[in-house]
Amino acid sequence: MFRHSWRSAIVVVAAMASVCSAQSLREEAENADLLIGTAVRPSQLSETAYASTLARQYNMVEPEDALKWWVLRPDRATYDFRQGDKVVRFAEAHGMKVRGHCLVWDHYHPDWLAQGHFTTKQLTRLLHEHITRVMKHYAGQVFAWDVINEALDENGSVRNSIWYNQPGIGLSRQGTAYIEQVFRWAHKADPRALLFYNEAEGEGLNRKSDAIYAMVKDFRRRRVPIDGVGLQMHVPNLDTDVPAITANIARLTALGVQVHITELDVSLPVDSNGLVHAEDLTRQAEVYRGIVRACLNSAGCTAIQTWGFTDKYSWIGSHSHGARGQALPFDRAYQPKAAYRAVLEELSAGRPPAH
Ligand code: XIL
Repeated sequence: MFRHSWRSAIVVVAAMASVCSAQSLREEAENADLLIGTAVRPSQLSETAYASTLARQYNMVEPEDALKWWVLRPDRATYDFRQGDKVVRFAEAHGMKVRGHCLVWDHYHPDWLAQGHFTTKQLTRLLHEHITRVMKHYAGQVFAWDVINEALDENGSVRNSIWYNQPGIGLSRQGTAYIEQVFRWAHKADPRALLFYNEAEGEGLNRKSDAIYAMVKDFRRRRVPIDGVGLQMHVPNLDTDVPAITANIARLTALGVQVHITELDVSLPVDSNGLVHAEDLTRQAEVYRGIVRACLNSAGCTAIQTWGFTDKYSWIGSHSHGARGQALPFDRAYQPKAAYRAVLEELSAGRPPAH
């Protein structure tokens, strides 16, 4: 009898384990009313393990580079939507949402634009036309756009850029006025799309995040069409100040905008063979856990997206010249890491009850 019940207990535990391993980030996120996304590289969609992990685990995708000017605009006359369309088709086939990234940035411009010596008048036309054409092409397919990326510097001042003051679109020395202008153009181009301001290194509490907060507050007060703030969240150290991130999300969402975590990765130092310390993987998992919890605890934090999902394809290696890596929830063989399990556990725990 005793023996028999032990056996059934083992069967039950085994069955429970297999149910647990059948869980996915996507299912748990849907239960928590959250979008769980990743940046994607269209060229990898034909790789079976890449495509199947992506479709099973995520309900949102964002083209990593395919909608940037250097891919979309090989020359002034051309709009090459092929790579972006590929991502949209994949998303539609798998019931996923698509975030668009990004319409305005001062990096990764094609040479014809960066070295074109355009006048203010020409740049104004170019940017207005770009925003309008791209957003209209993806209207109804891309639900949210990073309208502008990284427009502020670490002191919270508007960065010098081709669009602001070099020579700019006619609003130089007027602070955030050019940012406001691009949001207005974007809203006109696709009134149904959610419009985000996306930024790096303004996740916690610092001068940059104070400036983002002040800008969003001002835009909301004057009814400039902004729906959200994207916090990139490229985490380069394992001592992340999660309470500061929680506080920043709370103050932004209190303004009535959504927060999306848009580019989460937690990079680790790697040796010359690409290996990391085992304990760093455990600490990395706790950083992921803390950030996911910070988002879940705020009803206005509606999406968490990582910048890629497998260590096989991550920008961190080349960005750090090989010094860092293993930043994502799946390893190079698509096996879930401790970080994956921490994210899954937090998603399963869900949001706190509404008070
Ligand atoms: C990176 C991509 O991951 C790389 O493939 C590309 O070479 C450069 O851009 N912040 C952003 C992203 O907003 O667009 C950047 O993506 C990473 C930093």
